[in-house]
Amino acid sequence: MATKILMVCLGNICRSPLAEGILQSKLPRELFQVDSAGTGDWHVGQKPDKRSIAIARKYNIDLSNQRARQFQISDFEQFDHIYVMDQSNYTNVIALAPNRKAIEKVQLILNENPKNKLSEVPDPYFGGDDGFEHVYQLLDEVCILLSKKLFQQ
Ligand code: 4NP
Repeated sequence: MATKILMVCLGNICRSPLAEGILQSKLPRELFQVDSAGTGDWHVGQKPDKRSIAIARKYNIDLSNQRARQFQISDFEQFDHIYVMDQSNYTNVIALAPNRKAIEKVQLILNENPKNKLSEVPDPYFGGDDGFEHVYQLLDEVCILLSKKLFQQ
């Protein structure tokens, strides 16, 4: 059975679509299913932000088929690992957790990179294009480590 990984941010249009696309590109689809969701519902049904689509395309990753959805309590059952982008995502997701097992599935994604000084993936939504390049590089680096770790499990 495939291992299922969920990436979570606030809007599910900037950071978590990139995290989904980057991690999936490093793992075989037969063994690992990667999805993403937002804690908020403002962008449900929308494609990722144009700037996320563009930065991913620069590195040969296609996000254009993704559509935003809201995180739901059933995701705790559906997924083996839930990676959140920042502390407020963590607080919002944990608030919905039905039990300890659910809480233990949730991690700040950058905590998977011991070399990284940042613990949060900054929200690039209100900034310029360089914010999206920064987010891409942060996520690419951690997803290299994460893909190796998931393979070993
Ligand atoms: P994301 O970025 O959480 O990385 O998708 C945001 C997208 C939209 C909003 C905030 C953050 N917003 O306020 O609509």
